[in-house]
Amino acid sequence: MTIDIYWRIGMGGDHATLRTPRRNNRGEWNGIGPGNITPAIREGQLDGYAYIDHMAAVAKASESAGFLGGLLPSFPGTDDPWAVAAALARETTTYRFMVAFQPGFLHPLQAARMSASLQRATGGRLVYNIISGGGGPNQLWWGDKVAHDDRYVRTTEFLEVLKGVWGSEPFDYDGRFFRTDGAVLPPALAAEPFPEVYFSGSSAAAVGAAGLHSDYYLSWLEPYGDLKAKFDGVREHAAKLGRTPKFAVRIDVLARHTEEAAWAEIEQGWQYVDREAANRQAQGDSVGAGRIKGWVPETITGYRDLEVQPNVWAGFSLLRGGPAFGLVGSYEQVAERLDELVDLGVDAFILAGNPHLEEAYRVGEEVLPLLGRSRLTSPDQVLRAHATV
Ligand SMILES: Cc1cc2nc3c(=O)[nH]c(=O)nc-3n(C[C@H](O)[C@H](O)[C@H](O)COP(=O)(O)O)c2cc1C
Repeated sequence: MTIDIYWRIGMGGDHATLRTPRRNNRGEWNGIGPGNITPAIREGQLDGYAYIDHMAAVAKASESAGFLGGLLPSFPGTDDPWAVAAALARETTTYRFMVAFQPGFLHPLQAARMSASLQRATGGRLVYNIISGGGGPNQLWWGDKVAHDDRYVRTTEFLEVLKGVWGSEPFDYDGRFFRTDGAVLPPALAAEPFPEVYFSGSSAAAVGAAGLHSDYYLSWLEPYGDLKAKFDGVREHAAKLGRTPKFAVRIDVLARHTEEAAWAEIEQGWQYVDREAANRQAQGDSVGAGRIKGWVPETITGYRDLEVQPNVWAGFSLLRGGPAFGLVGSYEQVAERLDELVDLGVDAFILAGNPHLEEAYRVGEEVLPLLGRSRLTSPDQVLRAHATV
């Protein structure tokens, strides 16, 4: 079986390592400040090297290290993934762009035209990460007051229209959120392949919408038993609709030659953890984010308290913001934990690590070649394991 493995591109700055306090010091994203000695800033002046140049370096590095493409997240504090994907398309050859976006903020016809144009320009390298919003201040930044479950109604309508106009016949639609009257893409655009749909959200409303439209149901990493139960629920619901989605997990990875070396990185970063700031981040109505909070112990005496099962650590959000769970361990251990997820039904990974440039090479060259080893029986299979597990 083939497993699709993506790498993340930090869309709102990229900080050096988890060993040091949080500082986005790649490119000019954070401007001139103490300790920022990136190429973009020389003698107190910006020199023209921009954050997009760093993102291009990460895209090229992960492409040459064996990743299929990159996830481009979208939050109020980031660059826009559509624009970045278009800018990086000519810097890469086979690299796929997984663009995260909230359907509510684009008319589906506009999204269809942009997507098909990007497919033409890139040779079909666009992938969707459909996000429906986690509520709270991030949602209000967009001026969006639509209630949690209604956001999934909007997402469902959006995908129906997007697919409807991507055809050969005029398409009419009269929904709660979107309307079209005989709209259809021009033939040159409609001939492009419809992008694969990754779909995230842990609520019942999300699972309902994912059952209808996802090619891959995407989750943050969780304790393996809980993840399996969640996937079983999605699979069961989709089966009632006659659909069989695949499964994908987004995972931070801190892998080193030895397990001790990996934990030593965490230990060094731990001294800078600002727990209050981390709590402030977790506002909103996201069921998925609420699940994660439920696994983090109230009283933490040390970083190992957050190792919820071997090599599965729930403290990444404290070191760099973002999702809590990731894998910490030796190259072999991390590969084994990924293999276990494949056994559990996972078909695709989106991996990440700080700094994204160096870690793309490290994970690509040290961990990915080990994948699938536990299932291999002959040297011939080892060779093929680089592409399939
Ligand atoms: C792997 C993954 C990546 C996500 N990326 C983004 C993102 O880039 N921007 C965003 O606003 N939300 C992102 N989300 C949030 C979800 O799309 C969704 O809005 C959130 O999980 C709340 O849904 P729920 O209440 O159904 O769990 C992501 C979620 C997952 C699992």
